[in-house]
Amino acid sequence: MEYLLDKIRFEGIESGDYGQKPIICTRQFSSFNSMDSIRGIKNKLLGARHTPDKTSRAHEIKITKGPENIFYSKQILERKSKPIDIERLEEVLSSSYNVNVAIASVNDIPITRKEVKEVYFIRDDDPEKLYKVWVFKADPVATLKELTVYHIIYEQGIPTGKPVGYKPSKSDTTYPYDIAILGGIVENAGDPYSGVIKNMRMLPDKIFQTAKDIAQIIADYHIKLTHAKDEFERYGIDLHEADIGREIRERLIAGLGIEARLGDRLIDACTGLQSIQSRLNVVSHEDINEKNIVSVKSGDAILYRKFGVIDWESIAINNPFSDLCDFWIHHKRQALNICGEYDFSFEEFVESYAERFQKKTNRQWTDFDKDRLRTDSLVQSVIWNIYEMYDPVRDDPEDIKDKAITHCQALWDDLRQIENLGNKAHAGRIKKGLKILLKDKAYLHPVLNL
Ligand SMILES: Nc1ncnc2c1ncn2[C@@H]1O[C@H](COP(=O)(O)OP(=O)(O)O)[C@@H](O)[C@H]1O
Ligand SMILES: [Mg+2]
Repeated sequence: MEYLLDKIRFEGIESGDYGQKPIICTRQFSSFNSMDSIRGIKNKLLGARHTPDKTSRAHEIKITKGPENIFYSKQILERKSKPIDIERLEEVLSSSYNVNVAIASVNDIPITRKEVKEVYFIRDDDPEKLYKVWVFKADPVATLKELTVYHIIYEQGIPTGKPVGYKPSKSDTTYPYDIAILGGIVENAGDPYSGVIKNMRMLPDKIFQTAKDIAQIIADYHIKLTHAKDEFERYGIDLHEADIGREIRERLIAGLGIEARLGDRLIDACTGLQSIQSRLNVVSHEDINEKNIVSVKSGDAILYRKFGVIDWESIAINNPFSDLCDFWIHHKRQALNICGEYDFSFEEFVESYAERFQKKTNRQWTDFDKDRLRTDSLVQSVIWNIYEMYDPVRDDPEDIKDKAITHCQALWDDLRQIENLGNKAHAGRIKKGLKILLKDKAYLHPVLNL
């Protein structure tokens, strides 16, 4: 299997129209007279899947106008034969699942950070179900870390993707293939979480229920992965502390499109603010937004109280409120957007986390000093509102403006509370650092008091 995986190129896993044999169709049609309807029929003959493009080869469309105004169409359609890389992938999947597998389709997923394709297939032993895996373009260093992390997390019983066709070994120093394959959470992973709550938008209290369920999932992986710290080390994965500087540069500074050094003052101020946090640290996901949480299906139905977590690329050591704030900020923004109103509290969401934490550890969440927890949650909320203010991949000016205003207002609220807790100097430094970066954004002036 390794031998085959070695030969597959990511670029060769193409979405397209593949068949086993050429198809020859001869049909008779009447009453059509525009090129559009000719195209429509051509599509029908092709299986009506999509408008034929450069990749499908439809040959020889011969149309003869008969005396009775009847058109005859003889068409010989030759589907592209299956690319060799797809055949090899079929063999890799067959050998991994120990059963004959037929690939049913390949879909491109719009690029987020990585290049990913979705591959649907049918297994001989369960021929009534359509299964899928995700195929990534691999990078020798990043993919080794990512698949190893997935492997460890999966082994800890956390619902996540399962590496297929590759078992990390403690001695590997680079990932050897051009593609990496991830299997679903269970046999049937569904839509991203964002899609699920969109389809529940008339029931905001049920949406809040899903948020509380996710708080418990976060508690579970915080606890399990923190216990498994040594396992990460054994595989050579260095779980460093989250890097505020890098995040601010890659998100806010890149989103603003300005020189990196202009952010230094703000980064120093945020690092300073972090020093007032408690030392309560866990293994944290660090990118737990609605697209990295996926739903689970049972037959035709979506199990809206059960989810899996994917995309562990940013995993690091951090305060538990980092993931809690990251999730909540994204969740609240989306829920407000789809429901119009969304009056549920972060505190109640955190209570759900605390309940699980208490159940699963000997440490009582309520034993922690309440004021310290309050400080931790405010510090992380400040940091995440800064990260989220600008996003390098957005390009709609209205959208950019709305996002910036939302997070700037939330940030100024948090900073007021930090001041009330007696940390005026830290809050002041952050405000100064931000004003330097945002002084030419007129729409933020009312919030920034400029
Ligand atoms: N195991 C999986 N289960 C379900 N969906 C997945 C899985 N792996 C990838 N995906 C889909 O592919 C998308 C991109 O994968 P992800 O690992 O999040 O990459 P990126 O770093 O580009 O965000 C996800 O948002 C999700 O829709
Ligand atoms: Mg992702």
